[in-house]
Amino acid sequence: MIKPIQSFEEYTATYASSISDPEAYWASQADQFVWKKKWTKTLEWNFTEPSVKWFLNGKLNITENILDRHLKVSPDKVALYWEANNPDEQGKAISYKELYEQVCLFAGVLRSKGIKKGDRVCIYMPMIPELTIAVLACARIGAIHSVIFAGFSASAVADRVNDAQAVAVITSDGSYRGTKSIGVKSLIDEALQTCASVKTVVVAKRTGDAVEMLSGRDYWWEEEIKKATPVYEAEEMDAEDPLFILYTSGSTGKPKGVVHSIGGYMVYTAFSFANVFQYKEGDIYFCTADIGWITGHSYLVYGPLLQGATQIMFEGVPTFPDAGRFWNIIDKYKVTHFYTAPTAIRSLMSFGNEVVEKYSLKSLKVLGSVGEPINEEAWHWYNEFIGKKNCPIVDTWWQTETGGILISPLAGITPLIPSYATLPLPGVQPVLVDANGMVLEGNNVEGNLCMKFPWPSIIRTTYGDHERCKQTYFSTYPNLYFTGDGCKRDENGYYRIIGRVDDVINVSGHRFGTAEIENAINEQADVIESAIVGYPHEIKGQGIYAYVICDKTDKSEDQLRKEILESVVKMIGPIAKPDKIQIVPGLPKTRSGKIMRRILRKIAEGELNSLGDTSTLLDPGVVEEIKKGAL
Ligand code: WT7
Repeated sequence: MIKPIQSFEEYTATYASSISDPEAYWASQADQFVWKKKWTKTLEWNFTEPSVKWFLNGKLNITENILDRHLKVSPDKVALYWEANNPDEQGKAISYKELYEQVCLFAGVLRSKGIKKGDRVCIYMPMIPELTIAVLACARIGAIHSVIFAGFSASAVADRVNDAQAVAVITSDGSYRGTKSIGVKSLIDEALQTCASVKTVVVAKRTGDAVEMLSGRDYWWEEEIKKATPVYEAEEMDAEDPLFILYTSGSTGKPKGVVHSIGGYMVYTAFSFANVFQYKEGDIYFCTADIGWITGHSYLVYGPLLQGATQIMFEGVPTFPDAGRFWNIIDKYKVTHFYTAPTAIRSLMSFGNEVVEKYSLKSLKVLGSVGEPINEEAWHWYNEFIGKKNCPIVDTWWQTETGGILISPLAGITPLIPSYATLPLPGVQPVLVDANGMVLEGNNVEGNLCMKFPWPSIIRTTYGDHERCKQTYFSTYPNLYFTGDGCKRDENGYYRIIGRVDDVINVSGHRFGTAEIENAINEQADVIESAIVGYPHEIKGQGIYAYVICDKTDKSEDQLRKEILESVVKMIGPIAKPDKIQIVPGLPKTRSGKIMRRILRKIAEGELNSLGDTSTLLDPGVVEEIKKGAL
């Protein structure tokens, strides 16, 4: 197991040595795991192809490090406390031994369906223990999992299943969210109408609602595990074999499948979990993310379980039965570590302090923030009302592509400044560059955030399209990994993330490409063209503002808006619904036909009088029209 850094002096010394000899540093971390065969070379890399390989020729199975390893020392320790959506429903406590047995058994189910090493398996499930079990069972047999957040639409699911050419889908009959019961299997049925690669669907029972089962394709989880032969002998995998694909949005219309490989991801998620959170034996860790996003992968499944932690898995929503639910869970399980997103903090803050004051929250030791910049107001509220000024807040900066936290305080060790992600973890080498790619040396500078050296859990490729990986991350600035974020380094060398500098918007900590949402809007029959920009939103961080040109029609604007929203829900899912839709007569375009988003952003921000130079526009008059109708 990873032994975390203990003091700021140790951090400074470790950081220096990790940079002067990264290979020795990461080899010493990797040595803390169980390998079937040790690696022969620690690192081979270039950022031009790009090609990054860590722990070459090392053989392992990540689940042996999560399950078999802990089974020997602490079989009865609780791995997961599962808290149901409804507080009156009995939860579950699953020990490491039980998790081991369940994973081995379900791995047996997958094998019995002919699923083998390298096959892709999509998982579309609510936050129930079967989700964690399904993920680990894939890893146990060397199948590549692709978890799809269970809020995505059938069409979005089909795109992802087809892109990965998945052979199987694991799902549930339905799900509970707050007062709602939602059909899950029915959505999969709809999605799979266009997915010829899928031969097997396994359905876990959650709501008990009636679902259709296609004979020869669909199987009940509960029945299959009764017949299965457990996989006690974990598949031997190469360190560079892919562990999973996770789709994320970029500046083009089509989400890309970020691929992470086994060895490096294992080492880095355990390492970053141990160091950032400073989790100690006996602590209870609660990350509120969904496993459908990278935070759930790295800090709900892999990181904490690799470190043998006890954690909470919560099925429901923060506002059911009321806005005190998180605080209720913290008191109920005596949670010591709480990791959530700024959007959740801002939302819960808006319900007033009386809700919080009903709870003691005195078990808390460490608070975490992830997904978007945390504004100072939310930071102070989190610190005062949740942490009672006694808990360090780790503002953790990272991305789907980085696999794990790269810039963050180490809890209780790194001196904090509100809204600063502070300092890089050992082995992480950030640089800031200006628009021309010139590296900005020294402190008190602001530029685009890049990394100049690989860390073990860096993205390896985008599934099925390596060129796209190269173009997106490694071509903007030669020999650097480009994050897409703007960033400031202050006079003390502390990092403050400013936000995306590309066509990506971050809504409630979730990423969307503007083109992706525009494509969905354009599917509505009356729409001719659309342009999406982000604008500051009190709760979500960024809201989605849509400017839409429609054909002449008898439909009212309200009707058009309704149909546009329906189209977005159908193509992507409710999470991508625009907050504002303005029907416009035209869009501000340059003579070459490029939409001037800068102007649209200003209008969305309500800054109607500082639009800058509009004289280069094809039709400057259109700006006046848009300004008149601004929402
Ligand atoms: C983008 C990555 C990291 C897991 C969840 C989101 C933004 C993330 C922070 C932070 C400021 C942050 C960045 C980044 N972001 N964490 N602590 N402070 N911004 O993962 O969907 O891959 O999005 O989220 O803009 O590029 P993701």
